[in-house]
Amino acid sequence: MYAVLVSTLLGIAAAAPARSTAPNFAVVANLPAGGPLASAQAWNLTSYHITPCYDYAVFTNQSGRSFYANGTAAEFGTHSSNVLSDGGTPPWPWGTIVAPANQTDEQGRRNVFINCGTGTPGLEVIKNESGGGKVVYGTGQFYVCNSTLPYGPAIALYYREKDGKLFDGCADVELLTRCLDDNSRREYQQDSFCL
Ligand SMILES: *[C@@H]1O[C@H](CO)[C@@H](O)[C@H](O)[C@H]1NC(C)=O
Ligand SMILES: *[C@@H]1O[C@H](CO)[C@@H](O)[C@H](O)[C@H]1NC(C)=O
Ligand SMILES: *[C@@H]1O[C@H](CO)[C@@H](O)[C@H](O)[C@H]1NC(C)=O
Ligand SMILES: *[C@@H]1O[C@H](CO)[C@@H](O)[C@H](O)[C@H]1NC(C)=O
Ligand SMILES: *[C@@H]1O[C@H](CO)[C@@H](O)[C@H](O)[C@H]1NC(C)=O
Ligand SMILES: *[C@@H]1O[C@H](CO)[C@@H](O)[C@H](O)[C@H]1NC(C)=O
Repeated sequence: MYAVLVSTLLGIAAAAPARSTAPNFAVVANLPAGGPLASAQAWNLTSYHITPCYDYAVFTNQSGRSFYANGTAAEFGTHSSNVLSDGGTPPWPWGTIVAPANQTDEQGRRNVFINCGTGTPGLEVIKNESGGGKVVYGTGQFYVCNSTLPYGPAIALYYREKDGKLFDGCADVELLTRCLDDNSRREYQQDSFCL
């Protein structure tokens, strides 16, 4: 009886999933296998610096930036919280920014930026059906293109509305969240779903 109870408890402990929320997370690309840019699968989101407070969101095959969800309880409740990533020396909050529909690049694409200051309200981490989490915004779709930026090509992140067209050579991407070991918390920060 006692042995059965112990082994049952051990069984439960062994089956317990890894952390499913954390204060800070990395953002990792999940791309369709065999599609364009599949070679950037599992790359980390980081920033591509142009000038102070002007950085594109791009994926790298090195370590990326650390992100966190920010807002009041009311903002989280109304999907108007934002996603931040501290930068600079000493670090201060930078926001993840989706270009508005009327501020596209010369090809008509809505860039995603990581700039100092506040982030776009409505960028949030939701639970992924198979565990962990992903960053979403509205009802649209994130995608990546191998883009020519001022200091050389990069796998840059873009956003389009649900019915918007996907540019040739680009690929839809899911922004999966990976828990980081950094347990630091800031005012208005809320833990996020991640694996
Ligand atoms: C990492 O990405 C850079 C730029 O795309 C590329 O030159 C390099 O070969 C890549 N390294 C690996 C290990 O994939
Ligand atoms: C992404 O970053 C993590 C560290 O946060 C690192 O272990 C991993 O190798 C990086 N992924 C790639 C593809 O470089
Ligand atoms: C872009 O659209 C917003 C409303 O969504 C408006 O407030 C803003 O003035 C517009 N900006 C430009 C440059 O047209
Ligand atoms: C974080 O959220 C709080 C609460 O809404 C807000 O006051 C603050 O400006 C936000 N920080 C940034 C950098 O957006
Ligand atoms: C859920 O996350 C896994 C990886 O953690 C990913 O492979 C899968 O595509 C995600 N599914 C959805 C529906 O987001
Ligand atoms: C992106 O394009 C450049 C050439 O412009 C190429 O060197 C690089 O390998 C490409 N990166 C990926 C991940 O396909």
